[in-house]
Amino acid sequence: MRAAVQRRFGGPDAVEVVEVDDPRPGPREVVVAVRAAALNRLDVLQREGPALIPGFALPHIAGMDVAGEVVEVGAEVDSVRTGARVVVDPAIRCGSCEACTRGDDALCGATLVVGGNRPGGFAERVVVPATALHPVPEGVDLVHAAAVPTAYSTAWKAVIVTARPRLGEWIMIHAAGSGVSTAAIQLAKRAGCLVLATAGSEAKLEAAKRLGADHVVNNRTDDVVAAAREATGGRGVDIVFDHVGPALFQASLLALRPRGRLVFCGSTTGTEATFSLPHAYQSGMQLLGAGGYGRADFADMLAYVWRAGLEPVIDSVHPLDDIAGAQHRMERGDAIGKVVVTP
Ligand SMILES: NC(=O)c1ccc[n+]([C@@H]2O[C@H](COP(=O)([O-])OP(=O)(O)OC[C@H]3O[C@@H](n4cnc5c(N)ncnc54)[C@H](OP(=O)(O)O)[C@@H]3O)[C@@H](O)[C@H]2O)c1
Ligand SMILES: [Zn+2]
Repeated sequence: MRAAVQRRFGGPDAVEVVEVDDPRPGPREVVVAVRAAALNRLDVLQREGPALIPGFALPHIAGMDVAGEVVEVGAEVDSVRTGARVVVDPAIRCGSCEACTRGDDALCGATLVVGGNRPGGFAERVVVPATALHPVPEGVDLVHAAAVPTAYSTAWKAVIVTARPRLGEWIMIHAAGSGVSTAAIQLAKRAGCLVLATAGSEAKLEAAKRLGADHVVNNRTDDVVAAAREATGGRGVDIVFDHVGPALFQASLLALRPRGRLVFCGSTTGTEATFSLPHAYQSGMQLLGAGGYGRADFADMLAYVWRAGLEPVIDSVHPLDDIAGAQHRMERGDAIGKVVVTP
């Protein structure tokens, strides 16, 4: 099969599309013919190095978000047949550690990640455990299905499961053009929130409005704290959803109403933030790390996305041979929604 293989750390030319052996399934695994695989920031970060996910090894095939058709099943698999249209949960839990047996598999210390520390979807075929597969309903395009797993499960875990929005609450969502935040805007609107979206360009703010954002503000040129006060009659927003990190952390805390909650799940602009402890405790704010999602979260998220007919925002679709172009598109920072490769 053809696959985008990374043999070293570096720029886009560290990845080469080459012929490799077809992968074979173990007894409880299946082979999926990849029809679409969406990019995530992690693909680019691990290409540049250093590795972020424990167990990452070179050579590596990235691509966490996979949709396709089952073409071969292992000897012990009876849950799925060849020809099934499927989407893959990229987080594979061990099933036997203390966290897994306790039912909190999000904390499984032996998690394997498709495209993170085992071969992923930037290839014509990928092998995954049968338990990682979820059916794609008829009528849902496989490009759209591939855009769902990481972005929607991250947004679901942070906004729906962790922040627990109530009807009519104001939520400020940063980086509104990113894969995770386009999903978050859709989910927050359907949860009955009023959305204040922030981003770094007019094009991204326009896209946020089309997704239903009630109010938008440019976080590079305008004062997001003032915008939060203005939108909420001076009170401050109830929730901030952030994965940008230090660049907007202070502003996020100041934009919150007393007892507001900041839910965060990323560190795009760095890993350390400072803030005023008295301001935080006196206002009674809640700082909520979102944590990873579990198998049940993923299934809940997917069921909701299909039932509600949510359409992921697709920025662009690239053939496998243009994996460098796809990654460049993401790195340039002007993508809106998901960049997808179709092997
Ligand atoms: N915890 C988890 O389980 C989990 C899972 C998936 C992803 N994540 C994290 O979530 C984040 C987003 O992932 P993604 O794949 O959706 O990324 P993405 O589509 O590449 O989006 C990154 C966004 O960061 C924003 N940004 C960059 N520099 C900025 C700055 N100086 N000020 C303000 N905004 C800035 C950009 O926003 P503009 O639109 O304003 O340019 C861009 O849209 C990453 O940090 C990723 O590691 C976490
Ligand atoms: Zn485990």
